Amino acid sequence: MDIRILNNAQEIAQAVGDIFSAQLKEQPRSILGLATGASPVPTYQYLIDLYKKGKISFKDVKTFNLDEYCDLPREDRNSYYSFMFENLFSHVDILPENVNILDGNAVDVDAECAGFDARIEKMGGIDIQLLGIGTNGHIGFNEPAEAFTEGTFKVKLTNSTIQSNKIYFPDGHMPRYALTMGIGSIMKAKKIILIATGEAKAQAVKAMAKGEVAPACPASVLQNHADAVIFLDKAAASLL
Ligand code: PGA
Repeated sequence: MDIRILNNAQEIAQAVGDIFSAQLKEQPRSILGLATGASPVPTYQYLIDLYKKGKISFKDVKTFNLDEYCDLPREDRNSYYSFMFENLFSHVDILPENVNILDGNAVDVDAECAGFDARIEKMGGIDIQLLGIGTNGHIGFNEPAEAFTEGTFKVKLTNSTIQSNKIYFPDGHMPRYALTMGIGSIMKAKKIILIATGEAKAQAVKAMAKGEVAPACPASVLQNHADAVIFLDKAAASLL
């Protein structure tokens, strides 16, 4: 686990954005694993800026998103589908058919999840997977559990995640289930980049980096990945 502590979210966005940019220049047909939440937004803004300056293109890129809520229409402003178009895809030249986001309303959930993992595999695997971390140590929606999860699956969200994310649902209708890439799916990515900023993440970051590798802190599994780079600001790194 390669831990890099920078001064603020902006410096992290630039450092992470430069890794993505180098990847796209070297391999224009890259497969990117993307994340939602507050943590990746400055990186997406930086990448949009590079695109607008003509320095990178997403024309031949394929993307897979980590997770999506269940029982929320795709067009809902809080779906991760909407989030990705609003924060990245609508501003760059990615082709909509190259965007892969789980269908949280699929009738056949098992087929949806298995098909998602199979599509990633068929395309040769994810080159770079971007991650945030929950205050409870989750990655994607892999919540603290008795065992590490494997492939993409349907998960019941924990109270901690509901508390963290309900600010986005002022009407109180926060979904209780989601589809998420499993720990096994995430660990197959060739490179993993995790971003954590702010004091609220310090405990989870400590458990991830210094605790034992155990499903009680799903992110701790990244200690076993050959190329996981963790970008922290000073507040998130304060307990290391
Ligand atoms: P955040 O969420 O980036 O909005 O803090 C991260 C996560 O819960 O995985």
